[in-house]
Amino acid sequence: MKKIPLIIDCDPGHDDAIALLIALASDKFDLKGITTVGGNQTVEKTTANALKILELVGRTDVPVVSGRSNPMMSKLRVAEDVHGASGMDGPVLPEPKTKSLNMRAVDFIAEQVEKSEDPFVLVAVGPFTNIGTFLLAYPHLHHKIEKIHVMGGGVYEGNRSQLAEFNVWNDPESAKVVTDSRIPVHFFGLDVTHKALIRQDEFHLFRQEKGSVFQFVADLLDFYSICYVQERKLEGCPMHDSCAVASLIDPNMFTGYEAFIDVDIEGSKTRGACIVDIRPQERRLGENNGVFYMNVDRLRFLKLIIDSCHKLEQDLRN
Ligand code: BDR
Ligand code: CA
Repeated sequence: MKKIPLIIDCDPGHDDAIALLIALASDKFDLKGITTVGGNQTVEKTTANALKILELVGRTDVPVVSGRSNPMMSKLRVAEDVHGASGMDGPVLPEPKTKSLNMRAVDFIAEQVEKSEDPFVLVAVGPFTNIGTFLLAYPHLHHKIEKIHVMGGGVYEGNRSQLAEFNVWNDPESAKVVTDSRIPVHFFGLDVTHKALIRQDEFHLFRQEKGSVFQFVADLLDFYSICYVQERKLEGCPMHDSCAVASLIDPNMFTGYEAFIDVDIEGSKTRGACIVDIRPQERRLGENNGVFYMNVDRLRFLKLIIDSCHKLEQDLRN
């Protein structure tokens, strides 16, 4: 089986961390690198967190490249209320011994896409600044990208305004570059990610297992649940970013709509909202440019996360 050449652009982040674990455990991917962006915390902190995660699982062979610190047109607004001062509060991990590559994330993405013989897949689970900048700077490489899987948006609700979700809200211009690119975009927004929960009564499935990876996830969940369970009253922690990765491993786990998807960059109340047009084709605002996901087989998804942890623990023992 040919592996999918992949870059994950992220801002770890509790749910980013678990998305990375799933990707690192899977033999479906040829993970070319992890690029980081200012999002949940400053890019310095999200980069350090990515390096810490790779060291924890013994995968420092995967390059980390630090990217843009601020959105294209505005100043970054971090999510300290959700992810804490470090961006990944809760687990206590040593300071990273490894360093990020000394180059720009945007150029790293271009280099990897350019030299790939197979169609490339990008996963973007933070504000879309690196990906938007890459698409603007390297238009001749668009045809080499098969699709982009993103965590972003939400049809029925936002989490930073009534209609805007954090990743899109932080950098709507970059998100619009992505949807305007005509590269197929698979959107995992709040409609589906709020169903992709690890419920609080399932946290013990991680805590009860021996091994640093399971304990790391249990610590992540404990901290992440302060926001989602205690404050927002969900039944558990939404694994937002893992959806964008899990769907590449097991596409049938998710269902959604093919749609014309756009991003509002102007509205005084709707800036950063996603417009998802699923009306009959002849009335849509534009040609379909992707899929907007709405549902997940939650137990299958949970099993994938647990299996991924077992695989990483086993790799660490070998
Ligand atoms: C998104 O925002 C971040 O806080 C999460 O990591 C996720 O990517 C959810 O709105
Ligand atoms: Ca994220």
